[in-house]
Parts: sequence; C-alpha cells; structure tokens
Amino acid sequence: MSIPFFSKLRNRKAHLRTVKAELQKVRDAIESQTEQFSPHMRDYMRQVCRSRGKMIRPGLVLLTAAATGGIKDDHITFAALLEMLHMASLIHDDVLDKADTRRDEPTPNALWGNELAVLLGDSLLAQAMVMGADIGDSRFIRRMAVAVRDLCEGEVEQSTRLWDMEMSRADYYELIRKKTATLFAMAMSGAGYLQGLDDEMIGHLNRMGTLLGISYQIYDDCLDMTGTDDSAGKTLGTDAEKGKLTLPVFFLMESTSEDVAEYVRSAVEKHEEIDYARLRDTDAFAEAIRLSVDEGLSRNEEAREVLWMLPESPAREALTEMTYRLDEMLRDCLV
Ligand code: FPP
Ligand code: MG
Repeated sequence: MSIPFFSKLRNRKAHLRTVKAELQKVRDAIESQTEQFSPHMRDYMRQVCRSRGKMIRPGLVLLTAAATGGIKDDHITFAALLEMLHMASLIHDDVLDKADTRRDEPTPNALWGNELAVLLGDSLLAQAMVMGADIGDSRFIRRMAVAVRDLCEGEVEQSTRLWDMEMSRADYYELIRKKTATLFAMAMSGAGYLQGLDDEMIGHLNRMGTLLGISYQIYDDCLDMTGTDDSAGKTLGTDAEKGKLTLPVFFLMESTSEDVAEYVRSAVEKHEEIDYARLRDTDAFAEAIRLSVDEGLSRNEEAREVLWMLPESPAREALTEMTYRLDEMLRDCLV
C-alpha cells in the first residue's frame, strides 16, 4: 500500500525517462534556491528542501509541456516553484495537523517548533513567488497568486469546519478542490499557458488537473483511515483526531447500517474522535471506503478523456499511466 506514486511509476515505466533529465534539473533548481537565503537561514532551508517528495506536480508540468510541444526553461522554473509552494503548504499543514513525520523524516515543527516552521514555510512561499516573478509575465503571476489564495482558502475552510455537521459532501468537494486540486490544475494549465496554447485547451488541462487533484485527495483521505504510518511515511489518523469530515466519513454517516451511522454521527456531534479500530471490521466501513474509491476512479476516467485530445506521444502515454497508477493506489485502500 501507498507506494510513492510518481517515483514508483518512474521506476516502472520506461517512457517516463523522457522527462528524467528535466526532473533532475527541477531538483537542482530547488536546491540552488537555498543559496538565495542568508547564511543563517541557509541550513534550515537546505534541510527543508532536501526532503524528497514524490514530485507529482513538477512531473505534471514537465509531462504536460512535453506532450504539448516540448519543455522550455520556463517550465523547469515553474515546476520548481510549484514544488516549493507545495513544500511550503505542507510545512504549514504539519503545524496545523500537529504531524511529526512526513516522507519518513521529522517535520520542521517536530524539529524546531511551530514558530520557526511557520516562518520557514513563509520564506519558501516568498522565494517561490520571486521565481514566478522571474518568469516575467504578469498574467501568469496573477494566476499563481490566485492559486495560492485558493489553497489557503481551502485550508481555512477546513480549519473552521471541523466537526461541522452542517457541512455537505458538495462542501467537501469544493474544499479539497481548493486545498489540493488547485496546484494540480495550476501545474497542467500553467504548463499549457507557458507553451502558448489557446484558452480552450488551457481550460481542458485545468479541468484534468482538478479531477486528478480531487482524486488524489480522496486517496489521501482513504489512506488516513486504512493505512499505517510506516507504509505511508507520514503521521496518519490526524483527520479523525481533528474532526475533519472526509469523504469516507460522509459515507459512514449515510451508511445503511444504522448502528455504524448512529455511532459516527454521534461522535461528530459530540466532537469526539471516531474510533476506527471499532469500525474497521464492519461491512459499513468497507462499503464507505469502496464508495469513496469509486468516486476517485470515476474522476480519473474523466481526466483520461482530456488526454485523448492531445496528440499521441510518450509524454501523453506517461500521463495516462499516471492516472492508472492513481487508480491502483485508490484500489489498494480497499479493505
Ligand atoms: C495536506 O492536506 C495539505 C494541503 C493539501 C494544503 C495545505 C495548505 C496550507 C496549510 C495553506 C498554506 C499555503 C502555503 C502556500 C504556505 P492533508 O493534511 O489532508 O494531507 P497530509 O495527510 O499529507 O498531511
Ligand atoms: Mg496533514
């Protein structure tokens, strides 16, 4: 379970080698950004930037660029800044979630406390914006700033709607669209924009990124309930502890098994942590995960429709494989 998505795919699928060299350039670009900070901060930033992520967002930028005419220098800069924005958001997220492990490493809040972690996240965000400005296109910078605003809005909505029985499934989808799908959508549409594609095609890429981002967050939410810290390399179970209403929780509250539905609803009403150990062996739990997984799978199917609009190429093939890999990851959550 929870085999790293993009890196696993990279190992298994030969055609991803088409962007291997550029992915290394993105890693180098991120590393070189640490030199922009004062000597005092540099060690912290180096440590923060050293953590190896799955590089899903840079992968999406590079593959979209390769599938639509070729990877330019601006795509490398863009892929690097997007990963930095993502890293900044995770640093802040781990403070909010009180998570002490990510990517098998202690989180900045665990190492240095919340105050420094927040400031390091801010610094990384600011440096990503500097890189965005270097691309030198005001429409592009504006779009990026809107994406960051949406990301923050999603996180604010989440933080202010814990244990909120008024929250609907539609609210959940809008929330995860903002907090997770925004950067996926930005990766694909931004790559298309830098390629000079027309607005209609950029819109299609934006939709595909949104669908994949939503599906990815559904996977992450299922994993929080079914995975283990060790296999995921991060602290799990924080959703239940904090009272985040995720898709499987909605399905549990709507379960035809009255006992389970009643237990989950009453825990949410009383702001008590849902005890998954108590539910894990029930049919209702398996059904809630299955229904959630199906929601992710149908979004991946829809995302693939966009890919058929692009000319056939190894990069398009690799993007298609990514969507199938996400299918597999979702299915791995089934209990
Ligand atoms: C992970 O969610 C977190 C996000 C997708 C977004 C976090 C965004 C912020 C904290 C806003 C600040 C943004 C910037 C750019 C500084 P999760 O907790 O469900 O996933 P996890 O299990 O990986 O922690
Ligand atoms: Mg988290």
